[in-house]
Amino acid sequence: MRLSDAEAVKQVWGSRGGPASTLLQEGSDGPPPIPGYLNKYYWCFYVHPRAVWLFERPWLVNLILWGKYLTMRDAAVAEMGPSLPGRTLQVACVYGDLTNRLAARVPPGSELDVVDVLPAQLNNLRAKLPASAPVQLLRMDSATLRIPDARYDRVLLFFLLHEMPRDVREATLREALRVAKPGGKLVIIDFARPAPWHPLRFIWHPILRVLEPFARDLWTRPVEDWLPASHRDRIVSRTGYFGDFYQKVVIAV
Ligand SMILES: C[S@@+](CC[C@H](N)C(=O)[O-])C[C@H]1O[C@@H](n2cnc3c(N)ncnc32)[C@H](O)[C@@H]1O
Repeated sequence: MRLSDAEAVKQVWGSRGGPASTLLQEGSDGPPPIPGYLNKYYWCFYVHPRAVWLFERPWLVNLILWGKYLTMRDAAVAEMGPSLPGRTLQVACVYGDLTNRLAARVPPGSELDVVDVLPAQLNNLRAKLPASAPVQLLRMDSATLRIPDARYDRVLLFFLLHEMPRDVREATLREALRVAKPGGKLVIIDFARPAPWHPLRFIWHPILRVLEPFARDLWTRPVEDWLPASHRDRIVSRTGYFGDFYQKVVIAV
């Protein structure tokens, strides 16, 4: 059953003692506003009332990633682990079935939390998940997570950073590392600097520059440029996909 946006928010900002409210800090004063860049540049992709209807189609999600959605989704899921004991955080909803795949790996007694700032996206995700899925949806801004330090064993950022202005990207990385436990890991999947011969540099990059004005940073700069100094030398692996058009970066927390 699909919830209205208002119900989805209520579910996240639930009654005191409800599962989601245990993560909220005392004195928190309501849901976060929609960040300006989402309204300005991503309104038609995520905020528009028909955005979910338009984009939540496997073939379209795959087309937008040039046929590599399954490759990147599977890379993310495999990196997170065959089983996800303890607590796992996915920062931001995504179109497609990534969260369902992660949820299927959560053993009894463990949990997967998903943060997003848009109620429509959380609502869409809830509708995609089986009612029994051990997934908690949290309406929060990734740049200011209302979550205690060192809560998660692993944190995932899947194609999120390229959509963010630099200051929000830095804050999101800082927060993702803060809420991860020492000894845990942060997994990033996003655009990268492609091989010089890559034809999409000449076809897709010019289009993305218009549609997604912050994405260029990801194919011109390494991820450590936005990491806090404490974690710049803690990248444990960096894997390129599709002629380095995409990357997976793993950071030890
Ligand atoms: C993960 S990103 C891109 C995903 C990719 N295009 C896909 O769907 O496969 C899209 C999501 O990020 C969320 N988002 C963007 N900025 C955010 C922020 N500051 N805090 C929380 N969620 C955010 C949007 O609401 C949207 O649901």
